[in-house]
Amino acid sequence: MTSGPGLWITLEGGDGSGKTTQAELLTSGLTARGRTVLRTREPGGSEVGRLIRDIVLHHRGDIAPRAEALLYAADRAHHVATVVRPALARGEVVIQDRYLDSSVAYQGAGRVLDAEEVRGLSLWATEGALPDLTVLLDLDPAVARKRLDADDKPFDRLEAEKEEFHARVRDAYLQLAEAEPQRFLVVDAALPAEEIAGRVRSRVDSLL
Ligand code: TYD
Repeated sequence: MTSGPGLWITLEGGDGSGKTTQAELLTSGLTARGRTVLRTREPGGSEVGRLIRDIVLHHRGDIAPRAEALLYAADRAHHVATVVRPALARGEVVIQDRYLDSSVAYQGAGRVLDAEEVRGLSLWATEGALPDLTVLLDLDPAVARKRLDADDKPFDRLEAEKEEFHARVRDAYLQLAEAEPQRFLVVDAALPAEEIAGRVRSRVDSLL
């Protein structure tokens, strides 16, 4: 985003693609080099957002697709206004798990809402805020599922969706990356974590 002195990096990918590991590696690398890093996530990067996260991930029973899209957008609106923009204005590096591309992929392709409308909703919510870099960790959903199974944690509402849902999400992500090659870095998430981290680091270095 051009409005502040900071740098805004988002991580995207299916569940089990290793976003958290990469966010941690990138954070420790930049911190070691003296940068102030804010680690955050959607949904749930603010106090209001944590309440919304609980609804979208743990509500028992259905949530209408448009209501789900609006809940993610509400979380995003508050998060960008109260957490992300202030940190960027202070000159910090913001490293964020998931942003509007998650909504386009999950609510758009996954829940089959119109991708442009979902994207437009998020852009309205955030007054058009787009990250400087979006890292897409691309992984075959069947491999991701094996990783999640090995984790032994109960599935949330989205993780519990069927394999076709996750295949649509993956395709949508790849299309988004193709449409905006300047913003996206696509990395094969089946590579060793250190190798992925190296590729991310060199792209981030070129932006700092
Ligand atoms: P995440 O926090 O990555 O889950 P976990 O902590 O279990 O790794 O994301 C929570 C879920 O929310 C994930 O399945 C994707 C989904 N999601 C959407 O459907 N739309 C969105 O806009 C966002 C941000 C997330």
